[in-house]
Amino acid sequence: MSTTRDPVIEVRALVKRFGDVAALDGLQFEVRRGEVLGLLGRNGSGKTTTINILSTLLRPDSGTATVAGHDVVTDGAKVRSVIALTGQYASLDEELTGRQNIELIARMLGAPKSAAKQRAVDLLAEFGLTEAGDRQVKKYSGGMRRRLDLAVGLIGNPEVIFLDEPTTGLDAGSRNMVWQQVRALRDRGVTVLLTTQYLEEADQLTDRIVLIDGGRVIADGTADQLKDRVGKPLCVVTVADPAAVDEAGRLLEEFGATVSETGVIRIPAPHGLDTLAAVGARLREAAIEVSDIGLRRPTLDEVFLKLTGDPAETTT
Ligand SMILES: Nc1ncnc2c1ncn2[C@@H]1O[C@H](COP(=O)(O)OP(=O)(O)OP(=O)(O)O)[C@@H](O)[C@H]1O
Ligand SMILES: [Mg+2]
Repeated sequence: MSTTRDPVIEVRALVKRFGDVAALDGLQFEVRRGEVLGLLGRNGSGKTTTINILSTLLRPDSGTATVAGHDVVTDGAKVRSVIALTGQYASLDEELTGRQNIELIARMLGAPKSAAKQRAVDLLAEFGLTEAGDRQVKKYSGGMRRRLDLAVGLIGNPEVIFLDEPTTGLDAGSRNMVWQQVRALRDRGVTVLLTTQYLEEADQLTDRIVLIDGGRVIADGTADQLKDRVGKPLCVVTVADPAAVDEAGRLLEEFGATVSETGVIRIPAPHGLDTLAAVGARLREAAIEVSDIGLRRPTLDEVFLKLTGDPAETTT
């Protein structure tokens, strides 16, 4: 639900080298206000470096980046006043309880005592931490810690929030809580830039994806647009009688069918429903029963592999 179309993050020709390694090599993209942008790429492609520069933890060698109109190098303090970064940044005090951590930071950001207490009550509830709220953080599990970290990041009502792999290592329930939170943020008009190793997550959660490799953008678009770029849909058929798989495969050869080891027949479907109908008709003529037939787009995993190459070739 983007309120306006104006870019809130602008990255222009960013270069960052670490010795011989060009972590960023002319990186360029924009994030619009209220958008959830997924920054994806294989290990070592420059995602964390990008987030570190945008959140002023790291200076670029050249190029520029602005957040809410503020330059990350020359206006760092202003950038920090409008962003939240979870992960390394929000340093939790291990000896304090979750509630005390939130209250402390709310007070540091200028909230009166009663408001800070209320903020803690609200945020603990929002992140499913009400019960754990009065336990010391050092006794929290990894998932609870991660959720508290995200809650702490929201205390200052940031305009832009950076989430570097916010769900890595979380169980399904905790991951779901983070997803809900990201959606709620977007509904409030907060811009979210997140990285993730889970393509399913990017597919579900993001409005747009910027795919980077070697510190450069190699694709930019919605998950649907990226899928369209990489390939046409497939018609996927499972025949009811496993003994009929070979016959069906031969019958559909003229459509370019391939049969997988598990007996699933895949047919390129450049004409979508027309291809599906033709395949169905051919099978019916031959009286071959199917238990499942449908059109399927390439998955984001397939897109990712095709555009970035083999993850085994990762350089780090
Ligand atoms: N402090 C550093 N010193 C030296 N090299 C670094 C440093 N930080 C990052 N790099 C290198 O820069 C490149 C990009 O790293 P970065 O952490 O941005 O990747 P990433 O996309 O976040 O990877 P991952 O998916 O593994 O988190 C890598 O080759 C990495 O080894
Ligand atoms: Mg990283």
